Amino acid sequence: MIGKASAIAEAFLFLGKKLGKTHYLALMVILGIETSCDETAASVLSDGKIRSNIIASQAVHETFGGVVPELASRAHHKTIWQTVSQALQEAETTLKQIDAIAVTQGPGLMGSLLVGLSFAKGLAISAGKPIIGVNHIDAHMYANFIEHDEVYPFVALIVSGGHTRLVHVEKIFSHVILGDTRDDAAGEAFDKIGKILGLPYPSGPQVDKRSQNGDALFYDFPRSMINKGLDFSFSGLKTSVLYYAKEMGESYVQENLDDICASVSAAITDVLTAKVKRAVKQTGVKHVMLAGGVSANSMLRRKMGELAKRLHLNLMIPSVQYCTDNAAMIAKTGELKAREGFFDTLQIKPFARIEAV
Ligand code: KG4
Ligand code: ZN
Repeated sequence: MIGKASAIAEAFLFLGKKLGKTHYLALMVILGIETSCDETAASVLSDGKIRSNIIASQAVHETFGGVVPELASRAHHKTIWQTVSQALQEAETTLKQIDAIAVTQGPGLMGSLLVGLSFAKGLAISAGKPIIGVNHIDAHMYANFIEHDEVYPFVALIVSGGHTRLVHVEKIFSHVILGDTRDDAAGEAFDKIGKILGLPYPSGPQVDKRSQNGDALFYDFPRSMINKGLDFSFSGLKTSVLYYAKEMGESYVQENLDDICASVSAAITDVLTAKVKRAVKQTGVKHVMLAGGVSANSMLRRKMGELAKRLHLNLMIPSVQYCTDNAAMIAKTGELKAREGFFDTLQIKPFARIEAV
């Protein structure tokens, strides 16, 4: 079966070379599967368009205030077949019509990744389809090309729950890391600070919601490393909010929650925007993108919009459904990888951590 899947991949490459990239893309039907954390997701892409985008979120973690890895894998196991079937159904496609299966290979929770990858391998074997392993962080970036024209070179600010990273992409799948977080990621900072302020899990979107009615100038929280390099650090901000909340007391915090949230969001988004500006200056790019869950943040979207206008940049931000974890971004990246000839064998293994994108 491994041989059969590879033969199909080879046939695709041959077709790709013969027809040229644009026609080749228009032909492909890709099934994307994502199970790296606490969302079981499946999506179908055909003719370069997303035909379905199913996300089953795992409510089981809410009571624990964070993702419990073992419960996450069990929940993926329970819902994956139903999620994939629904994605195929909504796209009015059958497994037979799928040309390749793209699946998240990492980074993420090992147990969760294993469920998605094993399921994808099973499908690949039974239907005789090629498999494409996708890097989850790459996929957050390439999600932008679902709705925006594919352009290079660009600088991407990847801001998710586990990563905060600036990447210079000179051409497709050629990534140079410009800056990384030294401690907490931006999403992690939003979540941990939200928890300190008494907001329910997952608190990043809640802090955002509260901020929209608050005064960002209410309190001047620290903007760590804002004038220094392209690396990030958010753990100092978290400690500062912790001391502030302790000092002011619970009732004061609750009375001024909107303003405190807006001040926290301002501190985080000021740093993110300043670093993007520096990265643009350093690389001279004209195209910039936001990627990952925190790119759903309304203040960040607004500030990046203003920066792009000032510097005459082409700014790409995914619509909110493609910011947080989803399988459409896996299908899209799978499509691009297929076009570039990057297919995998059934020996493909998951990886929990990345050292480089
Ligand atoms: O990319 P993502 O969905 O998952 C990872 O790959 O980590 O990012 C999740 C992160 C969480 O920390 C969540 O709180 C944050 O993105 N997030 C937000 C917003 N929406 C999601 N943070 C701030 N404002 C939002 N609107
Ligand atoms: Zn993610």
